[in-house]
Amino acid sequence: MSAISIRTEIPGPASRALMRRREAAVPRGIAHSLPIFAAAANGARVTDVDGNVFLDFAGGIGVMNVGHASPTVVSALHAQADRFTHVGFSVLPYESYVSLAERLARVSPGRFPKKTLFVNSGAEAIENAVKIARHATGRPGVLCFEDGFHGRTLLALSLTSKVTPYKAGFAPFVSDVLRVPYAYCYRCAYRTQHPDCEFACVEAIEQAFARHADPQSIAALVVEPVLGEGGFVVPPAGYLSMLGSLCRRHGILLIADEIQTGFGRTGRLFACEHDGVEPDLLVTAKSLAAGMPLAAVIGRAELMDAPIPGGLGGTYGGNPLACAAAHAVLDLFESGELLRRSEAIGARIEARARRWAATCLLVGDIRRRGAMVGIELVTDRGTRAPAKRETGDVVRLACERGVILIAAGTFGNVIRFLTPLTITDDELDEGLEVLSGCLVAAAAQAAVR
Ligand SMILES: Cc1ncc(COP(=O)(O)O)c(C=O)c1O
Repeated sequence: MSAISIRTEIPGPASRALMRRREAAVPRGIAHSLPIFAAAANGARVTDVDGNVFLDFAGGIGVMNVGHASPTVVSALHAQADRFTHVGFSVLPYESYVSLAERLARVSPGRFPKKTLFVNSGAEAIENAVKIARHATGRPGVLCFEDGFHGRTLLALSLTSKVTPYKAGFAPFVSDVLRVPYAYCYRCAYRTQHPDCEFACVEAIEQAFARHADPQSIAALVVEPVLGEGGFVVPPAGYLSMLGSLCRRHGILLIADEIQTGFGRTGRLFACEHDGVEPDLLVTAKSLAAGMPLAAVIGRAELMDAPIPGGLGGTYGGNPLACAAAHAVLDLFESGELLRRSEAIGARIEARARRWAATCLLVGDIRRRGAMVGIELVTDRGTRAPAKRETGDVVRLACERGVILIAAGTFGNVIRFLTPLTITDDELDEGLEVLSGCLVAAAAQAAVR
């Protein structure tokens, strides 16, 4: 029996009515990928306020790796809500915060003593990781990447690359930020080819140290092991470890932004593990707590202890409900089954995407690490001109046909897959079949334009 059930036009009347109220009450700056209002969600299915059932290929932007309404998470939340919902860890500490820090230290890469700080969002965690790195090194600078995304608060936004809509109009930004090209091989900044390039993009960082900034002034390099918002760009094997060596050479701390790659998305709990890289500080959020607002900075104990008491914190950071959800998520990952499933889901999507590439000229590049799969659409395979409009068409058509999908990429031309890892093969195949039809329709529309 099919999972998708579309009973109304999309958006349906109830969603349209709510959208009118939303337009009057909520600023337009908060954009929506899709114009439907959610009413309920379970596993990989979302029901809207009109009773339509969709397959969720977005997971609230990579947050629902353990699936919507996981019974383990829901019962942990109920149990915690019955005990207490807030005392403020900086007023009265509680055990679940400490034990979560202990568990994350055990499961995160790096065989050294670690400590963990909890905050509320990915951006806040990035802010704190940089604050800690500055305090620990006494250096002001931060090195980051083109096409990187680290959040919308001002320091995180200063590290973020994409100009519109994220940065335009929000200047001035934080100073002492040095940005260099990422190993985005499909659009190599140096017009070279891997492996002949011998990592020209890493060599270029050394050159930037001669031309733009003294490496001795740089506290940290902030890097996503796979670019998320920037287009699911998977760097070649060896890239992250070369960045690690470069950091060690110059006394720069390596901060891995695992906010989107983390918690099983790539077939390992953290994507750094694929390269055997042990970052000094690792930032994670999103699927860490299955939708409860929780982010973590996990780092070398001596670095994490650099700021003095009171230098870190916040009213809600490590809220007990969020900690309870994260403990439940860790329980769910313990058997290793979700990690195996992540790889299997990714392989199934990739196999299908390769078939699309054989017949649909829009498909320019297919990239994957575990279940983090991106398909870059182009209007011309020779020039690789980004197919932004066609990508938008695919996303809109998919929604009308019952699949919640989101795009990524600096040029808005990458389809990204962030399904819950609990999705069944039947659900996945049903959603992929819908996407096949959407790609054909988008290509046909493009041909007559
Ligand atoms: C890699 C990465 N870093 C940082 C962030 C910001 O996280 P948040 O939206 O929780 O502030 C995101 C969000 O998409 C992200 O993908």
